[in-house]
Amino acid sequence: MDKKFKRTTVTSALPYANGPVHIGHLAGVYVPADIYVRYLRLKGEEVVFIGGSDEHGVPVTIRAKKEGCTPQDVVDRYHKIIKDSFQEFGISFDIYSRTTSKTHHKLASDFFRTIYDKNGFIEKTSDQYYDEEAKTFLADRYIVGECPRCHAQGAYGDQCEKCGSALSPEELINPISKLSGAKPVLRSTKHWYLPLDKHEAWLRKWILDEHKEWRPNVYGQCKSWLDTGLQPRAVSRDLDWGIPVPVEGAEGKVLYVWFDAPIGYISNTKELCDNNPEKYGNWEKWWKDPETRLIHFIGKDNIVFHCIVFPAMLKAEGSFILPDNVPSNEFLNLEGDKISTSRNWAVWLNEYLVDFPGKQDTLRYVLTANAPETKDNDFTWKDFQTRNNSELVAIYGNFVNRALVLTKKYCDGKVPPVSQMTDYDKETLKEFADVKEKLESLLDNFKFRDAQKEAMNLARIGNKYLADTEPWKLAKTDMDRTLSILHLSLQIAANLAIAFEPFLPFSSEKLRKMLNMQSFEWNQLGRIDLLKTGAELGTPELLFEKIEDDAIEAQIQRLENNKKENEKNNWQPDPINGQSTIDDFAKLDIRVGTVLECQKVKKSDKLLQFKIDDGLGGRTILSGIAKSYPDPAELVGKQVCFVANFPTRKMMGLESQGMIMSAVNSDGNLVVISPSKQVANGSHVG
Ligand code: 2FM
Ligand code: ZN
Repeated sequence: MDKKFKRTTVTSALPYANGPVHIGHLAGVYVPADIYVRYLRLKGEEVVFIGGSDEHGVPVTIRAKKEGCTPQDVVDRYHKIIKDSFQEFGISFDIYSRTTSKTHHKLASDFFRTIYDKNGFIEKTSDQYYDEEAKTFLADRYIVGECPRCHAQGAYGDQCEKCGSALSPEELINPISKLSGAKPVLRSTKHWYLPLDKHEAWLRKWILDEHKEWRPNVYGQCKSWLDTGLQPRAVSRDLDWGIPVPVEGAEGKVLYVWFDAPIGYISNTKELCDNNPEKYGNWEKWWKDPETRLIHFIGKDNIVFHCIVFPAMLKAEGSFILPDNVPSNEFLNLEGDKISTSRNWAVWLNEYLVDFPGKQDTLRYVLTANAPETKDNDFTWKDFQTRNNSELVAIYGNFVNRALVLTKKYCDGKVPPVSQMTDYDKETLKEFADVKEKLESLLDNFKFRDAQKEAMNLARIGNKYLADTEPWKLAKTDMDRTLSILHLSLQIAANLAIAFEPFLPFSSEKLRKMLNMQSFEWNQLGRIDLLKTGAELGTPELLFEKIEDDAIEAQIQRLENNKKENEKNNWQPDPINGQSTIDDFAKLDIRVGTVLECQKVKKSDKLLQFKIDDGLGGRTILSGIAKSYPDPAELVGKQVCFVANFPTRKMMGLESQGMIMSAVNSDGNLVVISPSKQVANGSHVG
C-alpha cells in the first residue's frame, strides 16, 4: 500500500432492499470488493469492509402498496435474504447493517444539519406533479403519458422508452399517475438542493488532474459530467418513507434516498466500531484521518453519485476524507441479454444456492474470470460449466488431488522428505518464484480478472509438473525421487491455498485443512518451505466436482420459462393505429356464418380450409390460423365473423372467398371472433 496510508476503509454499494440479489450484483461489486479485502487481510493490513442494505426510496413504498404491507415489512424481508446470500457466498463484511437503523437515521440527519447550518444548501420552490387520490407527490417514473416527440403511449416522466427521448414530467401529453390512474395536478413544493455547480472547480481539479489513475470508464464518465456542467441537485423528497428533513417547515419531507444511502457507509462503520471498540477503535479514524484510504466498490450506474455527489457532500460537511479510488465495473449480461429484475432475466443467488449447494466458489471463479472490468460482459451457463469442468476440476482440483492421494499412498499421508532436486525442479520453481509480485501488482491495481488467471497459472504449473515427472511410474524404481516430487508438489499446493484465498475462500479453507497448514500469510507466497517434512496431512477430499449437462440444461430451461412467463405477464396491447372514419369502415362487409367443415390444407402448415354457411348459399374461406388450432374440428358448428366482400383469392391451388376474423392473443396465438349469442347466418356486423 502507498506509504502515505496506514489503513483502508472499503465500502461496497448498498443494494436496495426491495428484491433479492443476483449474479450481476455479485460480479459487479461484491466479489471484487471481497477479493480486495481478503487480500489486504492476508497481508496483515488494517482494513474494514462495510456493507449494508439501502432501505429507503420510492420503489420500496410501491412494493409495499402492491403487497398490502408496510415498507418496513418489505425491507425486513429482503434485508435478511440479501444478508444471508452474501454470507453464503463468503462476502466477508465486517458489518452488514441497514439504513433503517437508529444509528443511521441520527447520523444522516446530523450530516444534513451540519451542511444546512453552514449554508451549504439552497432552498427552491417549484411546481411538481401531485396525485390527489394517492395523496402524494409523484416521482418521475410514476407518471406516464403520451410522448411529446413520437406520440407513443406509456412514456415515463423521465424517458420515452419507444423513442429514447429524455423527458421531464411536465412535457407528457395527458399525464396520469401510475399509482392511482388519476390525472396528476401541479403543486408547488419546497426542496433543498446541493449546489453542485459551486463544487465544480475543485471536483474538476481533484478528479481530472489528481486521479488520472482511476479506471478509464470511471474517469471518462466523470469527465463527461464535468464537461457538461454540474447543476444543483435536490436532496429532499415529498414522501412519508425515509429520514425526515431535520429543519423547521419540512413536514412531510424526507432526505432523498441517494443523499442518505452513502452516509450509510459511515453509519455502519460507526455501528461496527461502537459495538467492538477493542477491535476496530473509534469510527472516526476510518473516515476522517488523512492516513486512511477510502475505496468505494460500485457498479457503473452509481459512478456519478460516488465520484461527484457524495464527495461534494463530504466536502460540504467539512470533516471527512475523500475516496482515493472508485473501482467501478461495467455490467454483466446473462446469455446475451441485459439482466433484468422485472423481466426475471437473472440468476438469483438464493436460487443458485439451492441448485448448486456447496458450489459458491465455482460461481465466484466464473464471475471473476468474466468480470466486466473494462466492458460489459456475458455470463452463459455453458461457459460456467466449461470453466468448472476444464479449469477448476481438471487443473486446480486434479493437481491437488493427485499430490495428496499419492502422498497418502507412498508416504502414509505425511509430508515426504526431499532428497533430490533436479534441474527440472529448479526450472519449475523459477516459474512461480515471482507469483507474489505478479499477483500484488494486479490486485493493487484492482485487476482481479488477471490476478485470478495468475493464480490459476500456478495450478497449471503444478499440474504440468506432475504430468511431466509421473511420480506414480517412478515409484516402482526410485522411491526417493518419487517422494521429492511429491514434496515439491505439496509445497505448490500450499502456495495455491494462499494465492486462491481471496478468490475461492471455501476451497482454500478446505485445502488448508487437507494440508494441515499452521500459518497462512500472504508473505509466504512463492516459498517452498510452507510444509515441514514429516508433518501429518489431513484426509484428501475433492476440491471441485464436475457439473453435468443436465444441471446446465435445467438452468437454461428455467430462463426460457421465465422469459415466456414474463412475455405473458407483461404483454401490452399495441398503440392504436392512426385514424379511420366510419366511411372507411362501411366499405367492409362483415358477416356472421357457421363453420360447416374445417380442415388442414395439405402441404401447408399454416392454412385451414373452412366451409361456411353464410346464409347466401355457402362459401369456402382459407385462413392462416392452423398453428393456433391444431385440432380444427373444434371449430365445426361455431359461428364466426368474416369479411364477405374481399375479391376471391387463390392459395395453394384453392379459392378463398373472404377472410375469417380473429384476434391475436398475448401469446401470439390467433382466436376466431364469434358473436356472443347465436344469430342468423349472413347477419351483418357493424
Ligand atoms: O444502485 C443501487 O443499488 C443503490 N442502492 C446503491 C447505493 S450505494 C450507496 F450510496 F449506498
Ligand atoms: Zn417517444
